[in-house]
Amino acid sequence: MSFRFLDLHHQRDDLRTDVLAGLAAHPKSIPPKYFYDESGCQLFEAICRQPEYTLTRTEHALMASRMPGIAAAIGAVDCVIEPGAGDCGKVRMLLDALRPSQLVVLDIAGRALAAAAEPLAHDYPALAVTAIGMDFIHDLEAALPYVSAGRRLIYYPGSSIGNFSPDEAAALLKRFHQLAGSSGQLLIGFDLKKDPEHLHRAYNDAAGMTAAFNLNLLFRLNRELDADFDPTLFRHYAFYNPWHSRIEMHLVSLAEQTVTVANQRVHFDLGETLHTENSCKFRCDEFSAIAGRAGWHLAGEWERDGFAVQLHGVGVNL
Ligand code: TRP
Repeated sequence: MSFRFLDLHHQRDDLRTDVLAGLAAHPKSIPPKYFYDESGCQLFEAICRQPEYTLTRTEHALMASRMPGIAAAIGAVDCVIEPGAGDCGKVRMLLDALRPSQLVVLDIAGRALAAAAEPLAHDYPALAVTAIGMDFIHDLEAALPYVSAGRRLIYYPGSSIGNFSPDEAAALLKRFHQLAGSSGQLLIGFDLKKDPEHLHRAYNDAAGMTAAFNLNLLFRLNRELDADFDPTLFRHYAFYNPWHSRIEMHLVSLAEQTVTVANQRVHFDLGETLHTENSCKFRCDEFSAIAGRAGWHLAGEWERDGFAVQLHGVGVNL
C-alpha cells in the first residue's frame, strides 16, 4: 500500500487578509473556501444527507447507473486527480471502474482529507494515493510535481464548480486544463436549472444544517481572528436569484451593530447581508460553453433528475 500526505499550505495570513478585504467591500462577502474548518467539514457532510438536498444522491445514482458508459468514454487513465475531495467518498466508484495507478486528492481541509484518503490506500493496494492539503484555487500549480506522467483525469463532482461565477469557473477550468496536460480529461458534475421551489428547499433544509453551516463561519472568525460576532444577531438567508441563475447564501444582520474582527471595527446596518456563497445552476450547453472558453472539448454527457455530468478532453487523442 502506498500513501503520502503533503501539507502545502503557505504561511501567509490568507484568512485575515481575505476576510478583512471582504468585510470592507460593498456588498460584504467572504470567500466560501473558509467554510471548511473542522466543524464546517462535518456540517457539509450532514447537508449532503438531508432529505431536501437531493444533489449528492442524484449524482451518485447517475454515476452508479451510467458508469459502464462513462468508463468506456474515458478509456485508459493512469492518474485521477480530485480537487476538493473532502471525505473522498465519491471517487471510489471511479477507481473501481478505471483502475488508475495513482490518485491525487486535494483539499483546503488538509487534516480531514488525510484521514479520509488513507483508507483508500488500504482498500486499493495497487493504487498510489497522494493527499495534498492546499488551497487549489490559489495554488493549483503547486500540485504538479506530485502528479505522475501519463493520462490524467481531473474529477470535479458535486457541482462545486457552481460555487464560482462563470468567469471564475472558466479561469479554474483553464488551470485544470494545464494540470491535466496534453492528453488530459475532465469529468465534472454540475446542477441544472430547475424549479426554484426545489432549490429553495434544498438550501433551507428543515433540520437547519445549511443554516448551521453558514453560521459556523462566524464561530470560526470569532476563534481564529479574535472577532466578536454574536451569531444570534445574524440569520441564514438563502434564495434563488433567477437573473444570475444561482442560489445565493447570505448572513443577514438582525440589528444595526458594530463587530470587531482582527482589531478592525466593521459596521452592519439592520438587514445588511454578508454574502457567503453562490451556487450557480446551468443548462448543459451553457456549461460546455464555459468549459470551451477554458480550452475543453465536450466528449460525453449524462443527465439524470436535474443533474448532469460532462466529460471533456483536450487535444486530438480523444
Ligand atoms: N457545491 C454544492 C452546491 O453548491 C455543495 C455545496 C457547497 C453546498 N456549499 C454548500 C450545499 C452550502 C449547501 C450549502 O450545492
